[in-house]
Amino acid sequence: MANLFAKKSLDIILKESKETGEKTLKRTLGSPALLALGIGAIIGAGIFVRTAAAAGNHAGPGVMWSYIIAGIGCAFAGLCYVEFASMIPIAGSAYTYSYATMGELIAWIIGWDLILEYALGAACVAIAWSEYLNKLCEHYFGLTIPYAFCHSPFQIDPSTGVHGIINIPAVFILGLLTIILIRGTKESANVNSIIVVVKVLIVLAFIAFGWHFINPVNHAVIVPPNTGETGVFGWSGVLRGAGIVFFAYVGFDAVSTAAQEAKDPQKGMPIGILGSLAFCTVLYILFSYVLTGIANYKDFSVTGPGHEAAVAYAITHYMPGYEWFAGLITIAILAGFSSVILVMLLGQSRVFFSMSKDGLLPKVFSEVHPKFNTPAKANAWLFFLVGIFAAFVPGDIVGDMTSIGTLFAFILVSIGVVIMRKTNPDAPRPFKVPLVPVIPILGVVVCGFMIFGLGWENWTRLIAWLAIGFVIYFGYSVRNSHVNNVK
Ligand code: ALA
Repeated sequence: MANLFAKKSLDIILKESKETGEKTLKRTLGSPALLALGIGAIIGAGIFVRTAAAAGNHAGPGVMWSYIIAGIGCAFAGLCYVEFASMIPIAGSAYTYSYATMGELIAWIIGWDLILEYALGAACVAIAWSEYLNKLCEHYFGLTIPYAFCHSPFQIDPSTGVHGIINIPAVFILGLLTIILIRGTKESANVNSIIVVVKVLIVLAFIAFGWHFINPVNHAVIVPPNTGETGVFGWSGVLRGAGIVFFAYVGFDAVSTAAQEAKDPQKGMPIGILGSLAFCTVLYILFSYVLTGIANYKDFSVTGPGHEAAVAYAITHYMPGYEWFAGLITIAILAGFSSVILVMLLGQSRVFFSMSKDGLLPKVFSEVHPKFNTPAKANAWLFFLVGIFAAFVPGDIVGDMTSIGTLFAFILVSIGVVIMRKTNPDAPRPFKVPLVPVIPILGVVVCGFMIFGLGWENWTRLIAWLAIGFVIYFGYSVRNSHVNNVK
């Protein structure tokens, strides 16, 4: 009888992290590269697409508060991630931590749940990429990609009644980035660092230029009154907004999936995780202040004129003389989205790598390419999986599933820190979460609130996803698990 709560001992995990040779990942990333990896994963579709969606449909200019609430939840969870990532610097992140603290079944649940975060996160951003590519073609060439070939079959163009068939640009960008990833982590990190600089500069430029165009009338009421429906404006809308813009923070934890490739994880992990989180929080609050100040939040509602590619819309309509900037920002956004997808795909392949090394997934996911030293086959499979979501599912659904999956992972990691303090009190901890268990409990509470705010459709999706995971676990993983089958 398999032991569903068998734990992988910390000693074994740490020994694996020190393995060298052909079959392991190489330690090539320094602190600046890790910080860039974090910012690269964080700034993306969340700020450029979901800020406006949250403001227009749920929070109004109160989306600033949504960012603050989501940022606080992330900070609590982020501290817990850092304790783990500096203590257990191995690929696999939250999955590996829970294997050591809460046993195999929970580790499986979290590994399976992380697919929502990374794989679906990549799909969501690829879909947003396709949206902005369309804007770019329109802006510079006066062309648009036919609706049917850049939308999912579940979407209908409200003005023409045309149905989507497949989102080809989204699949294209995923394919391109998969090739870069297969060629090597260091190369991917270099491409990423360049993009990060461009992306940050463009956000700063939007804040600086846009500041002069803020119309105080748009900020007269920060939290518009609730319409009578929970989650539609008022403070419940701000909370709903927090669940939505939470997507914008997803990714800081992706730094921890690369811990096994960090040169000095004890130093690099706190800088990479907390540094990128703090930096982006400030940027987001300023950005949402300016965006909702330039344009009225009503423009961004589902039926509003600024519903798609909202930033480009706000510039062209409310910042006269800056039309050139709308084109430039679109190019930078496309590059920025690419770096998010890159880190998400990297994170996902590393989680698969660890799960496969433990026998919970087939061996093919942990085979390292002889020349490139990357899990090339895992990357190829991942392209297939993510591609299906990107091609056929609408962005909003994929985005909300990413948020709920990630929030759930944050809750488990926060609980894991408290358990690990009890089970392994003397293990060396280069970074310690202050005030345990207060901070982890606050992390659970704030993330729990955001899950609550995301509504029952998303709770149902999460439960259905976990149910599929159980079928695979009991059908395959439990019989192949190394920890459970030690002779
Ligand atoms: N945080 C990432 C983004 O906003 C996932 O695109």
